[in-house]
Amino acid sequence: MNARENDDLIDKAVEVLKENDRGTYTVPTKGLYPFQWNWDSCFTALGQGYYDEARAWTEIETLFQHQWPDGMVPHIVFHVRDDGYFPGPDVWQTGRPTATSGITQPAVAGFAVRRLYERAKDRESAAVRARALLPKIDAWHRWFYDRRDPRGEGLVAIIHPWESGRDNSIDWDAAFARVPTHGVAPYQRRDTQHADPAHRPTKEQYDRYLWLVQHFRGLCWDNSRLHDASPFQIVDAGFNAILIRSCVDLADLALDLGEPALAETNRQRASKAIAALDALWSEPHGQYLCLDRLTGELIDSASVGGLMPVFAPIAKARAAAIARTIEKRAAAARFIVPSHDPADPRFDAKRYWRGPAWLVVNYMIADGLTAAGETEVAARITGSSLDLIEESGFAEYYDPLTGEPLGGGRFTWTAAMVLEFLRAA
Ligand code: DGY
Repeated sequence: MNARENDDLIDKAVEVLKENDRGTYTVPTKGLYPFQWNWDSCFTALGQGYYDEARAWTEIETLFQHQWPDGMVPHIVFHVRDDGYFPGPDVWQTGRPTATSGITQPAVAGFAVRRLYERAKDRESAAVRARALLPKIDAWHRWFYDRRDPRGEGLVAIIHPWESGRDNSIDWDAAFARVPTHGVAPYQRRDTQHADPAHRPTKEQYDRYLWLVQHFRGLCWDNSRLHDASPFQIVDAGFNAILIRSCVDLADLALDLGEPALAETNRQRASKAIAALDALWSEPHGQYLCLDRLTGELIDSASVGGLMPVFAPIAKARAAAIARTIEKRAAAARFIVPSHDPADPRFDAKRYWRGPAWLVVNYMIADGLTAAGETEVAARITGSSLDLIEESGFAEYYDPLTGEPLGGGRFTWTAAMVLEFLRAA
């Protein structure tokens, strides 16, 4: 790509970000996702920082204004009424002053805030705003290890597939089958009115998503009870890796801002988690796997979630093995990184997290590979991501075999990642 094409792409990406900007928060895309989503917002802020640092800080501050008293940061904040999305506040019934969902999402904030702080041109304002966010992010991390690792094993569990962000991954299939489908109040999906149903989760999966929501609602969203009461408790390697990375980044940031105790706590959380993560490594797959906490067994499913730990400071040898695994996947797909191994018969190139490639995931993997010295594979991922944009625009996700754009269009975090990739290229 020449400089002019680069500039063009930057302009287009900024246009998408601004189009979805609602002043103090950004929607992932019009129609399909009309509210603020937790990890979307943190990635979005990185893109906004490219053209408006103050606006980028606001994005994350708005999210944390809706942090729960126990420390959890919810996965959706329903800032406005919009019946175009299901399930809305009347289904969640979390009783928060501004309605929110009752579950969380990957803990990207620590990573994003450190990155915003490091890049800031307005150093003074960045220090003030980062310092104010520090204890809030720390409280979220504490919540994770208290509430989602009640036995102190070092790794946290998700209790709903939506928490992982990889809603319908093949990783969840076996454990999700334990979640009942009966007794779910009648409902009408909205997502399939905005996106092709063949690219979205199935009706049976939605029944189970809803069953879990109803179950947790019946327990009054009391996080001291939800983990143990959930029939779905999964230790997701990717989810934990993001949390570990955020602990490490928050620790560095805290040191810089003169908060050594907060730094030490987060460093200890990360060290314990990195040691525990190794039990999820699978030599035959050349990647990490998820653990089903209720059966105590590793889940035989080679998804991208098991490649994401390279985003955390894992051992060099593990990062190198992940790079080799990605090279193998690249031989089977035109675009990388597919969200599931194309060699697995369960792979589905078009259905959400069962095959398609996602730019935020590519970004985290490329970032980790670069830090581990695997620069060639990282550059391939960056190149493939930009090729997808050029060929198919700012989609939610892409068919890794054909490059076809899938899901929602003019997608915020995809645009944000393009700005990040161009910065790195
Ligand atoms: C959805 O509605 O598809 C979301 O992924 C849930 O957060």
